[in-house]
Amino acid sequence: MNIKLKIWRQKNQDSKGHFEEYAMSGIEEHMSFLEVLDLLNEQLFAEGKEPVAFDSDCREGICGQCGVVINGQAHGPIRSTTCQLHMRHLAEDPSFKDGSTITIEPWRSTGFPVLRDLIVDRSALDRIVQAGGYISVNTGGAPEAHSVPVQKEKADAAFEAAACIGCGACVAACPNASAMLFTGAKISHLGLLPQGQPERLARVVSMLNQHDAEGFGGCTNIGECAAVCPKSVPLEVISRLNRDLGHALWKGQHAH
Ligand code: SF4
Ligand code: FES
Repeated sequence: MNIKLKIWRQKNQDSKGHFEEYAMSGIEEHMSFLEVLDLLNEQLFAEGKEPVAFDSDCREGICGQCGVVINGQAHGPIRSTTCQLHMRHLAEDPSFKDGSTITIEPWRSTGFPVLRDLIVDRSALDRIVQAGGYISVNTGGAPEAHSVPVQKEKADAAFEAAACIGCGACVAACPNASAMLFTGAKISHLGLLPQGQPERLARVVSMLNQHDAEGFGGCTNIGECAAVCPKSVPLEVISRLNRDLGHALWKGQHAH
């Protein structure tokens, strides 16, 4: 098939960006979306032009590096990472025809400044984790596996939250650019387990303070985040975060 790619180009964080269009032919439906971008860059190299900067690492849906907005949707039309999207998924849209234009933009959020073209700086998510997304343990020999029993339902819910790969699609899809699904996932996966209890309430306060300091917006229960999350992190993680926050504030008030 023949396609046109309309791609956001931006030299660096301080420059003004703009869209550029590129015509491509010989695109096969079995090509992955990132292979199409690789092919475009080969073309641009051959023409002596600047290649399009985009992030990727594992190309297996694991690392969370590859997110872009495709035709207005974070990671494109199916619930997957961008590297797991194939041209056949785009071609399944009835409005898609030979010669169609596909628009590709970086994540847009104050918390994710554009570094170059499609690459954004997602280190704000790392700083949220640094603010409290850990547990403190005494080091030494590995404890006996059955010494800390965990209920099956809690283990399953913690595992579901721990599937978050930090891709940032939840922020990109949210009209408030909120990172509450990400933050809720980290709070849930630690707060549901016995090992996460000692720092549970302090954790939610410091991670949320960092979330707000990074410029992410608040949650107003729209649900776009969970709808695009490639790892199916459920909205319940945000309810759990709010419950822990309420508990922390109540305890803080009653401590005086
Ligand atoms: S919660 Fe989902 S969409 Fe958000 S960063 Fe984690 S994996 Fe990505
Ligand atoms: S490149 Fe690793 S998740 Fe897409």
